[in-house]
Amino acid sequence: MQPVFVTGGAGYIGSHICKALRRQSYLPVTLDNLSQGHAALVRWGPLEQGDVRDTAWLRDMLRRYAPGAVIHCAGLISVSESTSNPALYYSHNVGGTLSLLDAMVAEGTKPLIFSSSCAVHGQPETVPVREDAPCRPLSPYGRSKWIAEQAIADYAAAYGISYANLRYFNAAGADPDGETGEMHQPETHAVPLAVEAAIRNTPFMLFGTDYPTPDGTAMRDYVHVSDLATAHVMTVQYLQSGGASCTLNIGSGQGTSVRQLIDAVAGIAGRKLTVQEKARRPGDPAMLVADPALARATLGFSPAISDIRSIAKTAWQWYAALDGHALPEGARAHEMHRSHYTAT
Ligand SMILES: NC(=O)c1ccc[n+]([C@@H]2O[C@H](COP(=O)([O-])OP(=O)(O)OC[C@H]3O[C@@H](n4cnc5c(N)ncnc54)[C@H](O)[C@@H]3O)[C@@H](O)[C@H]2O)c1
Repeated sequence: MQPVFVTGGAGYIGSHICKALRRQSYLPVTLDNLSQGHAALVRWGPLEQGDVRDTAWLRDMLRRYAPGAVIHCAGLISVSESTSNPALYYSHNVGGTLSLLDAMVAEGTKPLIFSSSCAVHGQPETVPVREDAPCRPLSPYGRSKWIAEQAIADYAAAYGISYANLRYFNAAGADPDGETGEMHQPETHAVPLAVEAAIRNTPFMLFGTDYPTPDGTAMRDYVHVSDLATAHVMTVQYLQSGGASCTLNIGSGQGTSVRQLIDAVAGIAGRKLTVQEKARRPGDPAMLVADPALARATLGFSPAISDIRSIAKTAWQWYAALDGHALPEGARAHEMHRSHYTAT
């Protein structure tokens, strides 16, 4: 099995990537400091505990495993925390990426796949958002991703690293087999918050009901985390077979409103959610939806289970299992569409 490094492999997205890599006979090696991640989610290859800002440690790891590619998911993810503590975000997200690039240059390793974000765009002028839309991030988090992307392109030009910056839209859902899922502390993402509200019978906060969208609530592009993971395996294969460096949106191309998300979760849960309507949050765009055409043309990637129902159902199964609840009988009537779950 060819080793592939997954920094942040003990986290939500990284653990799904590890599973997808293993299915395609790669050996995913997780490099994680476990500051946010969980050793229990590292199930498909070895865990090496360390900090990506430690270049000497990374070089040692690169020499030891000689990976065929590096997937860089390690980083901090809270937009609001990045505003109150930007130093932390520049240190982990920019410093960590520079440290990894230095180690890869020193050891002659390539290619690199970077977990970027649609947050690099800030308020998009046009929707769906294309990769060449202006990048004007609104938070230190978004800026840290944008700076890292540019550093990767500069290192690539100077030192010959091939790379793919993958700009995720809203990763959501959980492994359909229930082997890994989202465990953020604190949780800030809408899908797990809605599922938690349904399971615990607590209120779900809906921010903004007067957006210029069909039902007045903000629309986002949810991409199932297993589809996202598949896109990474396809990107490894693409770059390893000589594909050109690129920046790609990874999204479903479908907008889902917060109310549609609430309805999907309520449908799975078999009960209505208690919703508390609040004012818009500053900086939240009305609509953030990917134009996924470039990823389709470049990788042949199109999501298989990114419909909101499959997302809500897999998220529900994961949280219900964590919480010790069984899936309600009613949910089984709507079996999830999984036939296209493949990396090809
Ligand atoms: N979740 C989303 O919807 C989303 C959207 C766009 C981009 N992203 C990006 O995807 C990546 C993964 O996100 P996630 O949701 O899985 O987050 P996560 O917090 O679950 O995983 C991040 C992992 O990185 C590790 N980590 C953080 N700093 C580290 C360091 N300095 N050294 C080593 N390990 C470190 C953490 O312990 C954790 O296991 C992040 O870079 C995030 O910015 C996520």
